[in-house]
Amino acid sequence: GAAAGKAGRTRNIVEKMEESGKNCVVFYGSQTGTAEDYASRLAKEGKSRFGLDTMVADLEEYDFDTLDTVPSDKILMFVLATYGEGEPTDNAVEFYEFITGEEPAFSEGSEKPLGNLNYVAFGLGNNTYEHYNSMVRNVDKALQKLGANRIGSAGEGDDGAGTMEEDFLAWKDPMWAELASKMNLQEREAVYEPVFGIVEREDLTPESPSVYLGEPNRTHLEGTPRGPFNSHNPYIAPIAESRELFSVKDRNCIHMDVDISGSNLTYQTGDHIAVWPTNPGDEVDRFLDTIGLIGKRNTVISVKALEPTAKVPFPAPTTYDAIVRYHLEICAPVSRQFVSTLAAFAPSEDIKAEMTKLGNDKDYFHEQTGPHFYNISRFLTAVAKGQKWTNVPFSAFIEGLTKLQPRYYSISSSSLVQPKKISITAVVESQLIPGRDGDPFRGVATNYLLALKQKQNGDPNPEPFGQTYEIMGPRNKYDGIHVPVHVRHSNFKLPSDPSKPVIMIGPGTGVAPFRAFVQERAKQAADGVDVGRTLLFFGCRKSTEDFMYKEEWEEYKKALGDKFEMITAFSREGPKKVYVQHRLKEYAKEVSDLLSQKGYFYVCGDAANMAREVNTVLAQIISEGRGVTEAKGEEIVKNMRAANQYQVSIPP
Ligand code: 2AM
Repeated sequence: GAAAGKAGRTRNIVEKMEESGKNCVVFYGSQTGTAEDYASRLAKEGKSRFGLDTMVADLEEYDFDTLDTVPSDKILMFVLATYGEGEPTDNAVEFYEFITGEEPAFSEGSEKPLGNLNYVAFGLGNNTYEHYNSMVRNVDKALQKLGANRIGSAGEGDDGAGTMEEDFLAWKDPMWAELASKMNLQEREAVYEPVFGIVEREDLTPESPSVYLGEPNRTHLEGTPRGPFNSHNPYIAPIAESRELFSVKDRNCIHMDVDISGSNLTYQTGDHIAVWPTNPGDEVDRFLDTIGLIGKRNTVISVKALEPTAKVPFPAPTTYDAIVRYHLEICAPVSRQFVSTLAAFAPSEDIKAEMTKLGNDKDYFHEQTGPHFYNISRFLTAVAKGQKWTNVPFSAFIEGLTKLQPRYYSISSSSLVQPKKISITAVVESQLIPGRDGDPFRGVATNYLLALKQKQNGDPNPEPFGQTYEIMGPRNKYDGIHVPVHVRHSNFKLPSDPSKPVIMIGPGTGVAPFRAFVQERAKQAADGVDVGRTLLFFGCRKSTEDFMYKEEWEEYKKALGDKFEMITAFSREGPKKVYVQHRLKEYAKEVSDLLSQKGYFYVCGDAANMAREVNTVLAQIISEGRGVTEAKGEEIVKNMRAANQYQVSIPP
């Protein structure tokens, strides 16, 4: 059912526009916050460049049976992420089902019920998966069918190619031009108007009980966090155990068991766990220093939305330090559009000119920033040659930087074996940057997990990558062996009948959910359940380097006997690369037979092209095994996917 709207708040978007005096609503369908972020940017640009009265809206908070009554002088924008196997994001499910349904029930039935509706659409997708941008494509098609008028093209951003930001920028300019001409909007010199008002509070200190220091909401602040724990409310879970699965040069792999026994959280084998990371101390310092606030980091501030439809994205009163440390994505690559916004606040005219050029000239921007992996503060420091950016209103950072988002991992334990202990398997990401010795580009969440692991085990920080973390929690009373998490249920599941065969393809950390699957089947076998054939294709660089859970597999083998076979592909051991899909080919006969017996086929892993290549090999195997054409083989594979007999794990 629909998420209950906050008391008294209307779910009728037309009413909402009327009562708040808006003529442009930017709806978002967002899972991890990126689409929401793009929606805010469109709303802001519409307001500052064209004087539109914009608001951003969560699709989940409205009903859509009144879309046929949106007047033609208004505009709706849809920013829609596609995720998983072409599924809508959680908050867009109801909208999607309504609008693409057989006959959406509008208040007044007619042939083209949305003939008055003007809309623009942009999608966020990943071209390495099937069903690329299917959300925006299908919604656009549905809206067209209902007679609505699209302005601009239906934009498609591709995360797979790493061009999301540029796809967005390239899409929006012609869209704005068309919209301006259609709605008779006068473009004006964009003047920055802060969305949030910041007031420094001399009456409060960080010790005051009402001041938030990273606590995500009031229950946490008061030290009495309560469920349900979800994407708005993490459970601060104790870490039961953590260890390194392997460690070579700049690559570490962490195994962590998170204890959820103190909560009402549950999970099922195949689900995802979200980790709420904290920014590393050195980056927090760098950011505060760059904007000239390091001396004021612990000043308490109130943050108020200056207009009724804007929402402050974190609880306040709080401190500059806490906002930067717990709520803003300060380590992400800098966005070109934000560079344009910040130009106005440059410390000198020369720097302003340079910022404007960087903001406007795509090639120049990528040439100047690309090789450096600049985050916002490294970028600003480089452009201003060390001068501080003291003129930027703090609101601009709250608006212009993405909100720090939870990161999702495939759970690597079985809920049958350890129902109250969730395992995470993660490779710590760091990338060496030329000219930055000892200072690699580091993934936020995985390095946070590594730091927690070190703290829990009492390891000394390993030089040179050691970073410090203040741990989020009520008054930071947690001691570093807690981690804020929530669980996200997924459709990536073992067959309900354990006697069905399964074939799993999981190179690298892609093996995580399959550790869970095999653990579960080993337990079932030990309990005397009839378990089907269980094939696991695992790949890594070298058997002696990054072979995860090497000893554990032997244990599972003892329980499962001949039922379990692990097939390995070591890519850097011989003269030629050996990958999981090569080994899969060698098993063509058995794979084909198992699938004919209604076996299930699973793929998980982030090697960019692996899933696609596996798909191709599988189609060949089926075409040869069943004596049909390759085209027919591909069709069979497609149908298997549609029927969930073939599942690809795609964490959001
Ligand atoms: P490589 O890094 O030596 O190329 C886990 O990351 C394993 O997946 C590694 O052995 C890696 O090999 C391999 N891998 C990289 N690209 C792949 C692809 N396209 N298909 C299958 N495996 C791949």
